[in-house]
Amino acid sequence: MNPYRQIPVDQLDEDQAKLELASLTEEIAEHNQRYHQQDNPTISDAAYDALMRRNQDIEKRFPALQRPDSPSLKVGFTPSSGFQKITHRQAMLSLDNAFSKEQVQDFIHRICRFLGLPLTHSFDFIAEPKIDGVSASLTYEKGFLVQAATRGDGTVGEDVTTNARTIASIPSKLASPQWPEQIEIRGEIYIPKSQFQQLNRQRQQAGEAPFANPRNAAAGSLRQLDAQITANRPLRFFAYGTGAVRAGDLQQPDTHLGWLQQLQQWGFTVNPLYRLCHQTDDLLAFHQELENARHQLDYDIDGVVYKINTLALQQRLGFISRAPRWAIAHKFSAEQATTILKNINIQVGRTGILTPVADLEPVTVGGVVVARASLHNQDEIERKDIRIGDKLVIRRAGDVIPQIIQVILADRPQDSQPFQFPQQCPICGSPAKRLVGMVAWRCTGGISCPAQAVERLRHFVSRDAFDITGLGIRHLEEFYQDKLIQSPADIFRLQRHQEDLLNREGWGSLSVRNLLTAINDRRRIRMERFIYALGLPQVGAVTAQLLAKHYHDWPTLLTSIQHAQNRQSAAYQELDDIEGIGEAMAEDIVDSLNDPHQLAVINDLLQEIQVQPYEAPAASNNHPLNGKIVVFTGTLQQMSRSEAKSIAEKIGAKVGSAVSKKTDFVVCGADAGSKEKQAKELGIKIILEEEWLQLIH
Ligand code: IVH
Repeated sequence: MNPYRQIPVDQLDEDQAKLELASLTEEIAEHNQRYHQQDNPTISDAAYDALMRRNQDIEKRFPALQRPDSPSLKVGFTPSSGFQKITHRQAMLSLDNAFSKEQVQDFIHRICRFLGLPLTHSFDFIAEPKIDGVSASLTYEKGFLVQAATRGDGTVGEDVTTNARTIASIPSKLASPQWPEQIEIRGEIYIPKSQFQQLNRQRQQAGEAPFANPRNAAAGSLRQLDAQITANRPLRFFAYGTGAVRAGDLQQPDTHLGWLQQLQQWGFTVNPLYRLCHQTDDLLAFHQELENARHQLDYDIDGVVYKINTLALQQRLGFISRAPRWAIAHKFSAEQATTILKNINIQVGRTGILTPVADLEPVTVGGVVVARASLHNQDEIERKDIRIGDKLVIRRAGDVIPQIIQVILADRPQDSQPFQFPQQCPICGSPAKRLVGMVAWRCTGGISCPAQAVERLRHFVSRDAFDITGLGIRHLEEFYQDKLIQSPADIFRLQRHQEDLLNREGWGSLSVRNLLTAINDRRRIRMERFIYALGLPQVGAVTAQLLAKHYHDWPTLLTSIQHAQNRQSAAYQELDDIEGIGEAMAEDIVDSLNDPHQLAVINDLLQEIQVQPYEAPAASNNHPLNGKIVVFTGTLQQMSRSEAKSIAEKIGAKVGSAVSKKTDFVVCGADAGSKEKQAKELGIKIILEEEWLQLIH
């Protein structure tokens, strides 16, 4: 995980925010892929929402840092499928959860209070297993199946009728002649555990990624564009209730039990393990029975649902927000297992963060084989005193990646040693550094580290750095994999691969020529852009500018930074004294620019390009914008916000973040929002981007 993840959004600095946005974009894209394309999510919905919210909050604070591939620019999800949307006649709500006896008791008391009955009142409840599958709503008209839909967001689901017709336990026609005009049957589609294992074996043999668990397998199998694939998957359906009913001549049952019997008569499979209970103790005893028996069942269950049996009472109790007041899911405790920690591997993320990963003796937890678990960071390892060779208790809670709960100290090998967090990046060998106040270690290899290379290259060509258009992330990934571009210098040697480029899909002679021209145009680069492009830790565009201004040319900067390795030297003092450069930053700059790997990459690059000495901006005092307060709003087309800001500052203008009476003018890019409105209200001059460009020219 990115070390900045712990920092509240309002305390992030610009560089941290940038890295954090890169890491969030990458993580969210990965989760989207897992959820929507592979039906194999690894985090809970709540954790996903938290990532999305953080991304949005950071973008709100640093609008200029919004990435073109930001997840907030993606409007919802067109299902990977292209399935039609279906609005449920009656919403498919969820259930509240109870995790303890007390919470079950509270649930019953709530019902008593709502109905104005004494807390000791006993009700008829139907307790039934909570099937861990995919919920579905089947619509029957005059006894015939006409539509099948997934739950979706509860209001609108996806039309999976063709696929549902291939499932043997979904009758295409209701069996008894007594059927309603129209009815929604609700239930759970699942894959039996035994069939799941076989399915995964087949997938692995065919070189396909196995499903993480039967539920994901069921979801993935149901949402296939080709119904033939669904037909070959071992899907089953348990019916547990109804949605909207247009009864017609049908005499409707007045209890839930009555409905379960009716569903059976129509030919549905109702899970046989339901029980009529009266007292809380009966419910709890049944819960315990099922918890003990769950491993013997051939399908996954994750709790027991308690439902008030009398429909008239259900009706009176109604719903609170998205869940019925008349039912609750009493969940089983999370699944645990013990296993041995074989090793601790260190993974290096795209932003250089070192994450320790537990390499475990494979063990089955809740039907899933677990062989790895994240150890998060050094603090976590130390806090739990986790050592290689230890016996550990691990837990899988819902979708979440396995967690290590504790070490069984009694089984610790005599010769075990505390884990030494590596001081070097396992990928490139550069020193690893723990950022001040952070929990994570980070590889200082930057652009020279293969694990970070693509992300670094993306930064290298970005607008405020080398500004090479036509070299997007996809191309960089492709060229990196194919070894055309491994380091920044390779970008300038790309012309050697002209023929290869021309033979690639999507490339024509014009686009290749344009790209090579765009690259050649950048062989001379301004010093501040060059420094920024190197992506040194903590060095954003502003710091790059400070360094360029102070040292004037690259050789001077490099020599001085080399001398600064001695922290007592005048050179180090000089760096530390630059206004805007703090001690932690100075340390990072010195360390990274003296790292031999990093230097090798830079020297290689300098064979290809020329760094121009810093040029102070023309005296700005007589510029018409000198001393004016400018506010930017909307998306600028010709330059990034940070560049616009830096130009404004160069010509002596001040850049405000909010519009007030003191603002002299507001520069509006595309999709300007409330600031433009405020400016109009306050009678402040509004200019368009074009006019702004003329002004600064
Ligand atoms: S009754 C008003 N009964 O659990 C909601 N749901 O968290 C009534 N589920 O998406 C739902 N087994 O798909 C009910 N025996 C059962 C169930 C069950 C599994 C699922 C259902 C729903 C989720 C609710």
